Parts: sequence; C-alpha cells; structure tokens
Amino acid sequence: MKLCDTLAGWRAFRAPLGGRVGFVPTMGCLHAGHASLVARSLQECDHTILSIFVNPAQFNDPKDLELYPRTLDADLALARELGVDAVLLPAPAMLYPDGYAYRVQEMEFSTSLCGASRPGHFTGVLTVVMKLLNLVQPTRAYFGEKDHQQLELIRGMAAAFFMNVEIVGCVTVRDADGLALSSRNRLLDAKARQTALGLVGALREARSDEEAIQRLTHSGLVVDYVETRGGRRYAAVRVETPSGIVRLIDNLELS
Ligand code: PAF
Repeated sequence: MKLCDTLAGWRAFRAPLGGRVGFVPTMGCLHAGHASLVARSLQECDHTILSIFVNPAQFNDPKDLELYPRTLDADLALARELGVDAVLLPAPAMLYPDGYAYRVQEMEFSTSLCGASRPGHFTGVLTVVMKLLNLVQPTRAYFGEKDHQQLELIRGMAAAFFMNVEIVGCVTVRDADGLALSSRNRLLDAKARQTALGLVGALREARSDEEAIQRLTHSGLVVDYVETRGGRRYAAVRVETPSGIVRLIDNLELS
C-alpha cells in the first residue's frame, strides 16, 4: 500500500493508473462504515484510493476540531488489511496553498439542517472535496448516507460543475443496537452511549418531528434540529461526555 503525503508523490502514483479508480475520502478514525465504502470500491473499481485528512475548514468550532479523534496507525493497518492501493495523507499546506482564499459555496440546502447550526461547515466540506476530487480524478467516489445532507450537496456540486465523477451513496452501517457508526462514537462513555441511543429510537418511532424532539429532550439529549424533508427525517443532537459535548447526527428514510 502506497502512502502519499506530498503533491509530487501523489501525482507520480496517480499518473500511470488506468481502469476505474475508486475514491473514499475520510477524516480518519476509520470504522466499519468506512470499511463498507472501501469494500464497495474494491468490488466496483480496479484501484481504490483512501484519503485521511481532518479538514480544519469544515470545523466551525475549534474545540470540536481539537476533540476530533485521530487514530492514524490503526487507520493505516485497517486500510492495508482491506486492500486499499494507496492512502493520500495531505498536510493542510498541501491542500490549501491558497490559504483557503478560494471556496466552493452552495447557497440553498447548505444553509439548513446542519448548515444552520454550523455556519461555514458545508463550504469547508465542498471546498475540500472539490480539491480532493480534482487531485484524485476518480471514476467513482463513495460517501455514506449517514451524512445525507453532505452526500446530496456533493452530488449537487458534481452536477453543477460538470465534474467527471460518479458520486455513490452507501447505506449507513449501524451497531447491533441501532446506533449509526461514527468516528465521534469513540468519544462516548457507556452512559453517553446509552443516552445517544435515543437518537435512532426517536427517528424510527416518533410519528412527527415534534414528537421526536420531545422524546430526545426527555432522554437527556440537547436537540439541534429534527426535520423531515423529501421523505427523510434528519436530526442532530448534543450529548454530554466526560471529555466535552459531542454532536451526533443521523437520518432515516420514512416508509
Ligand atoms: O464525511 C467526512 O468524513 C468528511 O466530511 C469528508 C467528506 C471526508 C470531507 O472532509
């Protein structure tokens, strides 16, 4: 497995690759959800590239960026085990030679749901994803439905800018108890994890968004939003842990 942490090294690796290139962009702290994206790429493509980059531009809260879990050695071991061909490990200066002067901004959907409480978040996401897609030039790029708003915004960006890539959405992987896998779950102690389980329960069982909000509040979660759009119920909550407040999101298609 090739590790690329310079632009020149990456370009030298990418240039001779033929066939279908699959790309899984991540912020590391890999779990079975990421592994499912890699597995899909391995199945559908001739080469699979993973990137690990904790993107400062998408964190509106410096405390959240500081708290974000980093597990590089374990991530590389898992990537190797899964059969990834190369891992792109850019430093901020490699991805932001412009100092973040140039940005990709969506003006509609990105201002709602997570965008309403995390100003600038989706501009940071779209900008870094555009940069990574331009560098990797994949045939297909894989994203989880757990971040459904992100997935839709990336799809929209690829279409709006005529980008030559297929954006593939993959179903959310959940623990046996229903909790959606997330790198942030690592920050939950047993008590916070139990509280966090209320999120999927409310999404699944509440008959209205208002009822879901009541249930979440009752189970000790601070509700950021619960909103149903296009037959899908989206929610974000905050839960208290010994290391600080952790924000969790989830969404479900309502049948
Ligand atoms: O979903 C994520 O992990 C990130 O938002 C992404 C797509 C890798 C961009 O930094």
